[in-house]
Amino acid sequence: MAPTQLIEKYNVAAPRYTSYPTVPFWNTASFSEKAWRESIVQAQIEDPTGGVSLYVHLPYCESMCTFCACHKRITHNHAVEEPYIEAVLSEWRIYKQQFKKTPRIVELHLGGGTPTFFSPQNLQKLVEGLLVGTTTDPNAEFSFEGHPGSTTKAHLQTLHALGFRRVSFGVQDYDPIVQLAIKRIQMPDQIAKVTAQAREVGYTSVSHDLVVGLPFQTLKGFTKTIQQTLQMRPDRLSLYSYAHVPWLKGNGQRGFDENNLPTAVQKQEIYALARQQFEAAGYVEIGMDHFALTNDRLFEALENKQLHRNFMGYTTTPARLLVGLGVSAISDSWRVFTQNTKDVEEYIYLAKQGILPLLKGHVLSDTDLKIRQLILNLMCLFETNWDNSIFSESQRATLYVQLERFAADGLLAFDDTSLRISSQGRPFVRNISMIFDEYLNEKPTPAARFSNAI
Ligand SMILES: C[S@@+](CC[C@H](N)C(=O)[O-])C[C@H]1O[C@@H](n2cnc3c(N)ncnc32)[C@H](O)[C@@H]1O
Ligand code: SF4
Repeated sequence: MAPTQLIEKYNVAAPRYTSYPTVPFWNTASFSEKAWRESIVQAQIEDPTGGVSLYVHLPYCESMCTFCACHKRITHNHAVEEPYIEAVLSEWRIYKQQFKKTPRIVELHLGGGTPTFFSPQNLQKLVEGLLVGTTTDPNAEFSFEGHPGSTTKAHLQTLHALGFRRVSFGVQDYDPIVQLAIKRIQMPDQIAKVTAQAREVGYTSVSHDLVVGLPFQTLKGFTKTIQQTLQMRPDRLSLYSYAHVPWLKGNGQRGFDENNLPTAVQKQEIYALARQQFEAAGYVEIGMDHFALTNDRLFEALENKQLHRNFMGYTTTPARLLVGLGVSAISDSWRVFTQNTKDVEEYIYLAKQGILPLLKGHVLSDTDLKIRQLILNLMCLFETNWDNSIFSESQRATLYVQLERFAADGLLAFDDTSLRISSQGRPFVRNISMIFDEYLNEKPTPAARFSNAI
């Protein structure tokens, strides 16, 4: 089948599988705070070294980019910084009281929103507070998302002194027409300057986020973005597919019309061109939407089959326990998922009272755990295997019919209990993962709305 026909055929709504089950299918009725707390202790028993990945969601931004799907609060009022940090530290104290062993931090990621909305002093207070009563693994990775417009040398230096060595900058696209449409104006010089500063200060992994599928994006315009990016030679690149999810984000995304978006075929052409040019420049494609130079830890993790994917995306540190702190943050003890409240005021109020600010969660069944690992392997390694006993006879029959269809299109090869995705099949890894998703196959609900696969 021709590539354009494949794209038309498979460009359906599909989860990004940063978790399995995906959030819209969590069985919140079976979840309890007690189950969550017990699972944390269990995770520490299963990983006797007490490794914890920490994610902190810092939700504030000074202005609204109209393409953004992140959970954020727009404000110019910097008086919000200190109460928010106090709340995060209170929430972390609740966890530390629950742990039976001293947590050993293997990963710390500050995301958002915009972490660099906060002053360097307040970020220092946050990180120093988080590290109280913990040990830090010698190979720990500390990283943050830096907005190129608000990341100062002082931010870079302060966080470097605290152990941060990786920063990702939100670039998106250099085309002025696209920037105008997404209300995010930033010159290549500005990105080059902040990238050079990060390197001078001592960051060993500088990453740029690019997005394919933004309004008014063209192959010609993005060719220039690729060239400008390669001139700066970031160690890592994210090439996200634009998630158009206006139903989730209210008016924030409605600054442009759906007619202004490139088609699925154009999007795929742009992605293919970027992939080819990045590979020609020495980058290796990692998972679904990442590229890394071979000196970057993400490449090492791929080579050692240590690559992991969680709510933060691809990571090099597969800890049993991921604690997400802050409003809307998601946590994962491998057996249980939870998400915090999405309301900033409620979050601050509850955390300061010493109450875990949980909104909902899901306790994974034994079958969930097996399918979770199966899909994780697909997303990280493009191959997987399974134990047929987890599927009923009718599920198995459907599974093999679907596998046959993908194989006939040249997207994968399979036998009774394993499959390997072909290079042509890689853009369709979300579609292939869907055939194992019991929730999606059994009870599609209107609440389960995902962005398109391409
Ligand atoms: C939290 S933001 C980055 C930090 C900072 N706020 C900034 O904008 O530079 C994380 C990244 O998510 C990506 N992103 C946000 N909304 C997206 C969407 N709708 N589709 C795909 N990627 C998106 C962007 O590449 C963005 O840089
Ligand atoms: S892209 Fe970054 S700065 Fe823009 S609204 Fe989203 S989180 Fe905020």
